[in-house]
Amino acid sequence: MNILAVAAECTPFAKVGGLADVVAALAKHWRALGHSVRIVMPRYGTIDTDRWNIRPTQLVTAVPIGWWHEYARLWRGELPGTDIPVYFLESRDYFDRHGIYGEPEGYPDNDRRFLFLSRAAFEVAAATDFTPDIVHAHDWHTAFTMAFLKSHYRYHPHFARTAGVFTIHNIAYQGQSDPHRIIPLAGFRIEEFRGSWFEHDGVVNMMKTGIMFADKITTVSPTYAREIRWTSAGMGMQPYLNLRGADFLGILNGADYTEWDPATDPYIPMQYTVETLADKVKNKAALLEDSVPPHDRILEVPLFGMVSRLTSQKGIDLLLGCIEQFVRSGQARFAILGSGEPRYEHALRLLGRRYPTRVMVFTGYNAALSHHVIASSDFLLMPSLFEPCGLTQLYALRYGTVPVVRSTGGLADTVAEYDPVSGIGTGFTFGEYSVAAFARAIERGLSYYRHPLHWDRVRINGMQQDFSATKSAQQYLAVFGWALEKIGRSM
Ligand code: ADP
Ligand code: GLC
Repeated sequence: MNILAVAAECTPFAKVGGLADVVAALAKHWRALGHSVRIVMPRYGTIDTDRWNIRPTQLVTAVPIGWWHEYARLWRGELPGTDIPVYFLESRDYFDRHGIYGEPEGYPDNDRRFLFLSRAAFEVAAATDFTPDIVHAHDWHTAFTMAFLKSHYRYHPHFARTAGVFTIHNIAYQGQSDPHRIIPLAGFRIEEFRGSWFEHDGVVNMMKTGIMFADKITTVSPTYAREIRWTSAGMGMQPYLNLRGADFLGILNGADYTEWDPATDPYIPMQYTVETLADKVKNKAALLEDSVPPHDRILEVPLFGMVSRLTSQKGIDLLLGCIEQFVRSGQARFAILGSGEPRYEHALRLLGRRYPTRVMVFTGYNAALSHHVIASSDFLLMPSLFEPCGLTQLYALRYGTVPVVRSTGGLADTVAEYDPVSGIGTGFTFGEYSVAAFARAIERGLSYYRHPLHWDRVRINGMQQDFSATKSAQQYLAVFGWALEKIGRSM
């Protein structure tokens, strides 16, 4: 199959969260299964083109916007370690800025920036003579590709036989926008806006647009698929997901174990496997060396790690609610790597200053350190308010780092409470979104930490799980096949 993936993020070039990892992992695994994949994304100002060997091409893409054209020079690179072409759109007006979305509030013209990306993707495919069987779009940023496929490109020689698949990574971000601004830019008539597939609550809603125009819709875990269809977690999109119920399903994200494997990870000081699990602690020793004075580097004190965007979605409030009780009692140490909302960064930095040897706080985005923190920690905390899938817990499992998670979305699908009687289970879980419930789950974890037999069991159980992206890549291919059947093609 020929697959055109269009996304706002892709690892390792530009990443804010798991979306970037999934886009890259799927492409790699489809390629390994013999398919042809191309990725189109923006050339953000912060992408290190030298490091990733991204070069300008001779192509300048003319992108129809409104009644005129806008232009983007095309740059080309490859997904590292593969021959998968990645096309980067250079635009001084839209993308040559700091960061990706303009955190924390987002740039005011994000709607227009990503509309441009969505439209340009078709022009890039045509200009490079790529005829996709599938256009695969991710989240609201590229949702308009689904509408373009069914309208402006419906009879285009490159896309007349193309089906559209839309993947929802997080329904909390929907891309709302003023219709008078966006509808004409997208090449549609404002007179037809009311009651259309673009509209929700009187404004343009890109999430709804993707849901309504796609041939098939997926989200990133089966539990999240149920939650957003049937509960308020759908954030207003429930009626549309129900309308499209026959074409909607959850596919659990997979991990790219070529990037995330403690046996080969180049970012960690000491590599290890299930057989050499005793070596894992050397990573903790190395992490403590930088922040903790020698007399306090007690390796027996359990280390709780967290690598996360700092938003309310991630349950940072629960962490802040109970961290001091564990620190003061001397029961635990914390290593937190995160960036996001200033109020959370501030609160964490304060804790770091108050307990410099017990709470290690690293703010900012740091890919190498994220591997080191996950490898070094005994536990990984994910007390999320909601979690479409979550990848960090998958990585933690592989690293013998025991997840403590709230059972929601993909966390419920990937972490099972450890049962000391059967010896089955991979982590510690809680249901109610409260500090007390979270603290109880941590306490349970601590009680097994002190029992070598159980502690080894739960860690090894986790390391033996297989959440490889090969599985999810295959499930997507099945969905792509159904999408093609829907438009009258058979594969
Ligand atoms: P989300 O996509 O909601 O942020 P996921 O768990 O799916 O959550 O993915 C988060 C990804 O981002 C993981 O790969 C994680 O390691 C990474 N990550 C989050 N915060 C940071 C950070 N500050 N520095 C480096 N990597 C980070
Ligand atoms: C989103 C979700 C996260 C998911 C990721 C990749 O950012 O918040 O749960 O793992 O997308 O699909």
